[in-house]
Amino acid sequence: MRHKNLPIIEKLEITDAGTEGMAVGRFRDIVIFVPWVVPGDIVDVQILRKKKKFWEARLLRIIKESENRKKPWCSHFGICGGCRWQNMDYSTQLFYKSKWVKDSLLRLGKFKFPEPLPIIGSPQTISYRNKMEFTFSNRRFLNEGENANDPEIKLQALGLHLPGRYDRVLDLKYCYHQPESSNKIRLAVKNFALEHGLNFQDLVSHQGFLRNLIIRNNQEGDYMVIMVFGEYQPESIHLVMDFLKETFAEIKSLYYIINTKANDSFSELEPILYAGQEVIYEQIENLKFRIGPLSFFQTNTSQAKRLYQIARDDAGLQGHETVYDLYTGTGTIACFLAQNCQKVIGIEQVEKAIDDARMNAIINGIENVEFIEGDVLQIFDQDFIEKNGSPDVIITDPPRSGMHPQVVKRILDILPSRIVYISCNPATQARDVSWLSEKFHVEKVQPIDMFPHTSHVENVMLLDRNDQY
Ligand SMILES: C[S@@+](CC[C@H](N)C(=O)[O-])C[C@H]1O[C@@H](n2cnc3c(N)ncnc32)[C@H](O)[C@@H]1O
Repeated sequence: MRHKNLPIIEKLEITDAGTEGMAVGRFRDIVIFVPWVVPGDIVDVQILRKKKKFWEARLLRIIKESENRKKPWCSHFGICGGCRWQNMDYSTQLFYKSKWVKDSLLRLGKFKFPEPLPIIGSPQTISYRNKMEFTFSNRRFLNEGENANDPEIKLQALGLHLPGRYDRVLDLKYCYHQPESSNKIRLAVKNFALEHGLNFQDLVSHQGFLRNLIIRNNQEGDYMVIMVFGEYQPESIHLVMDFLKETFAEIKSLYYIINTKANDSFSELEPILYAGQEVIYEQIENLKFRIGPLSFFQTNTSQAKRLYQIARDDAGLQGHETVYDLYTGTGTIACFLAQNCQKVIGIEQVEKAIDDARMNAIINGIENVEFIEGDVLQIFDQDFIEKNGSPDVIITDPPRSGMHPQVVKRILDILPSRIVYISCNPATQARDVSWLSEKFHVEKVQPIDMFPHTSHVENVMLLDRNDQY
């Protein structure tokens, strides 16, 4: 993009930090989004795009640094989209995450709610992820001054997509999101592939042998590695897989997947176990959970434990209740709560997640849970309630888009005495709770940080049925 003639705003004060990791300043009454800056900074920016309700700008120079700034420790900061808030002190990050929750409730909610409780920060702020997906590319993102025609330059990359760029991958030297072994495995695979002349995929034509590398780990330090190949080349597959098997004792489960489709999603493909165990296990309190190559599991395990404990405390179970766990995933919350109530019914639309949920119940000897596969919208109706029993408590943890209005309407008809609403999107949660506020009131708002150095925030709301119902 040519920037020469675009307007410049000088000495803009950055006053807020919001979604997508963008910081915010105001010029007259216009909101300006600026990436990579921190509330409290005074900056010169150049306006790149003017939209009706806001402008988008790029940073030209920092005139005065905010007190909330912290020196980013990752060499990829400023390019990689992984940790956009790494230049912000962690307590400031938490402040803006809480603010986002409260602002969403005020702006979109239009119902009464108590002051949100202090946000629960993550005790681990680096290496907190238990899963990362990396992409191979034959044309990496080039830094300023690098020339693709320079014969000295290696163009192959194994790393993360640049924000919003399906065709550009940043070659990662080190990533602080996962423990050391993840870095060792990723770098070793890349070097091995280069030494053996293996072909990295072309992200535009989707041709090429090496496509993705998925690394999962548990708190015990066991690793599961999944290689995704774009072509079936048995000899080369054995070469790579044997290398991984023989080099890393911590890889307890080793899979590969052949993906010849145009996109990188592999959830419907068959993972092939090459060596080791079928699954690794994660322990939360007294429960063990299976993690297979396609299983969903909360990405920050120690905060997942806190989240489930909050859900259990909020549910206030005495032992006699029927609980519904809507959008149950692999049934972790359902299993967690089953120990404190009469029965739990979990509903989830992904077949493989339901298989995992049933296995999780079996391996933990939990007999009072039932998992039902299907779309909550389709199956959670009056007939279903008559068959499975009326819920005293509903736990709901929908995807970012929130609940379908019809699902909210059914909850209003069914009228459980409590609802524990877990959400990774305060905006859709505020919308849904405003509908539910017809018959429920908000007892508690508890934000929790699952993803340090990103703008994401999780929020748990406890709703109690109003007295007249
Ligand atoms: C945020 S995750 C919940 C995860 C789970 N509570 C946990 O902590 O592991 C949302 C889940 O909802 C499922 N889902 C999304 N839309 C759905 C629908 N319409 N009906 C049933 N499940 C759905 C997704 O597959 C995903 O597993």
